[in-house]
Amino acid sequence: MSFNRRNFIRSASLLAALTAGEIKSWAASSAQVTADGKDIPADDEAFWRSVRAMFPLSKDLTYLNNGTFGPSPYPVIEATRNGMMENDTHGQYGNWDKTAQRLAKFVGADEEEIVLTHNVTDGINIGCWGIPLQKGDEVIITTHEHMGNAMPWMNRQKLHGIVIKKYTPASTAAETLNRINALITKKTRAIATPHIPCTQGQIIPIKEVCKLARDKGIFSIIDGAHGPGMIHLDLHDMGCDTYATCSHKWMLGPKGTGFLYVRKDFQDTLQPYTVGAGSGNDKWDLMTDPVTLGGYTPNAHRYYAGTQSNGLYTGVIAAIDFIEGLGAENVYNRVKYLGKYTQDRLLSFGDKIELLTPTEERSRAGVNGFRIKGMEYSKFYSMCSENKIRIRGVNENGLNSLRVSTHIYNSPEEVEQLMEVVKKAVA
Ligand SMILES: Cc1ncc(COP(=O)(O)O)c(C=O)c1O
Repeated sequence: MSFNRRNFIRSASLLAALTAGEIKSWAASSAQVTADGKDIPADDEAFWRSVRAMFPLSKDLTYLNNGTFGPSPYPVIEATRNGMMENDTHGQYGNWDKTAQRLAKFVGADEEEIVLTHNVTDGINIGCWGIPLQKGDEVIITTHEHMGNAMPWMNRQKLHGIVIKKYTPASTAAETLNRINALITKKTRAIATPHIPCTQGQIIPIKEVCKLARDKGIFSIIDGAHGPGMIHLDLHDMGCDTYATCSHKWMLGPKGTGFLYVRKDFQDTLQPYTVGAGSGNDKWDLMTDPVTLGGYTPNAHRYYAGTQSNGLYTGVIAAIDFIEGLGAENVYNRVKYLGKYTQDRLLSFGDKIELLTPTEERSRAGVNGFRIKGMEYSKFYSMCSENKIRIRGVNENGLNSLRVSTHIYNSPEEVEQLMEVVKKAVA
């Protein structure tokens, strides 16, 4: 593990934000947690408890809302601080391409296909605005969008007259694919679906969707907010044109760090709009008349420009180190295990609970959507808040449901705390 605990403990400003108990338990733990290349059973609670000790996440709160953001462990926080110090003590500038390199490897892409962004929404907008669309062209999205993947397309509808078609994700991957297929017409230009919708977390069969799109000459512009860190990703194998995502959810990285994949051969189709230092080649010239643009950088750097944060991007590398130190497959298995544990417990309430996330093996991982029969989502959400349990209410598009999302720092005991509230709600 590459972080230096002693240096971290000396960092008064960060320590000020932690309680004495938190510092003590972390410092006292033998929490140099790595898997040393071994397979760790998903239900090895002793191991996962030692992992939990590496997170400053308050024990006064049962945080079951990783889908909104993933709390960072200490090594990521320390690396972020160290990255800032490097900037501010040595005038270090640039060098953030090494983050693009690590991200590329982590998601099965090449460095020149990675755009550094600040969140998922940035990447979605680059994809949405960069594809050539005219009035009447059709784009397929879901009825389960986060605003981040709804607003950009709705804005193009308003400004450019594109037509938005919608499908509702089904309870099986095969049926979801059928629904998308049924929406395709001669005017379909893009499938802009989430890989894993924020509402219920069902995994859309994205490789098949991208193949369908490619076979019909349709762009695949994927919202991948919940992909990296939750499930294994190989973007080359997936075959999408763009994949917008972030490091601040399931990768447990610093908040305000995102990235976008743009397939190499797609870069001459996807027009860059937000450009500046870093996105052009060195042939630009203001002394000619007319002035000379020169050309775009011959890789995905054409889509981002200007000063980036050394601190945040050092933290992103530490987040990848952290996951890989635990063994990425161990992490994905633990996430899936807790997701299934939550599903089974919700299902045990029979018809008093409506589980909205598919039970199909390939369509589920760390997020579960549900409704308490006959109860407004906001009432149950308040009951959880009273018990210091953080989940998410899903009020988008009248869905009136709840979402629980669990990561490696959670435990079956914490899921049981939620179930105690469910018991009261259905009594
Ligand atoms: C599916 C989905 N898309 C997009 C976003 C927007 O992400 P960000 O806040 O990083 O822009 C989210 C955030 O929760 C999301 O869940």
